[in-house]
Amino acid sequence: MRFVLTCLSRISAFVCKRGVFTIVLGLSIVSSVYAQDIVVSEKDFTCIRDGRQIRNTFIRHSDPEKLKEAMRIFENSVPDTEYPVGTFLQLVPFEAMVKHPREKFPKTNGWEFFALDLSEAGTKIRDRGDNVVNLSLGAPCLSCHQPAAKFDFVCEKKHGCAPLPFDDKKFVEIQATDPRCPKK
Ligand code: HEC
Repeated sequence: MRFVLTCLSRISAFVCKRGVFTIVLGLSIVSSVYAQDIVVSEKDFTCIRDGRQIRNTFIRHSDPEKLKEAMRIFENSVPDTEYPVGTFLQLVPFEAMVKHPREKFPKTNGWEFFALDLSEAGTKIRDRGDNVVNLSLGAPCLSCHQPAAKFDFVCEKKHGCAPLPFDDKKFVEIQATDPRCPKK
């Protein structure tokens, strides 16, 4: 009898260990799919000029190698190529696009749009996600950026997006109004 009991408890311990092993393995596979995602909070938004400028756009990434890669894709308008997760793009101080893994926002290849309220004290996030609307134009960000899907939703001038009602001089003026930048 004792033998049978010992045997049973050994078997259940084995089955149990395997169960735990399977659960741990499953969880680690799930977390590795999402592991490279980044968490974006208000503190991540600072003076627009803290980014590196290419033409009208400011680009940043906390990893210098990935910043280089993002700048290469942007500079050369490389088609069918995704920006590294963690890339921040800004044209105007009060809006941004941030790249997550594509599963997080499948409609936009992982880009999250941001509408920001700015003051000298810092940044408040007014709206975020893949359904953000530009209130002054009355249009969702994605409605204009969608035609540039071949360029990972980056518009610039020649990727098929409806143009913004501003010329390049106006972009420079708007960028200069960022209240978070140090006073010159
Ligand atoms: C009327 C169409 C339109 C709407 C609406 C719009 N954009 Fe854009 N966006 C553009 C165009 C066109 C450019 C390129 C401007 C340039 O470089 O001359 C651009 C550029 C940008 C850039 C710089 C990178 C790039 O794609 O060239 C960011 C970042 C951006 N927009 C974010 C947003 C966010 C966030 C929203 C919503 C809150 C938004 N946009 C709404 C048309 C639009």
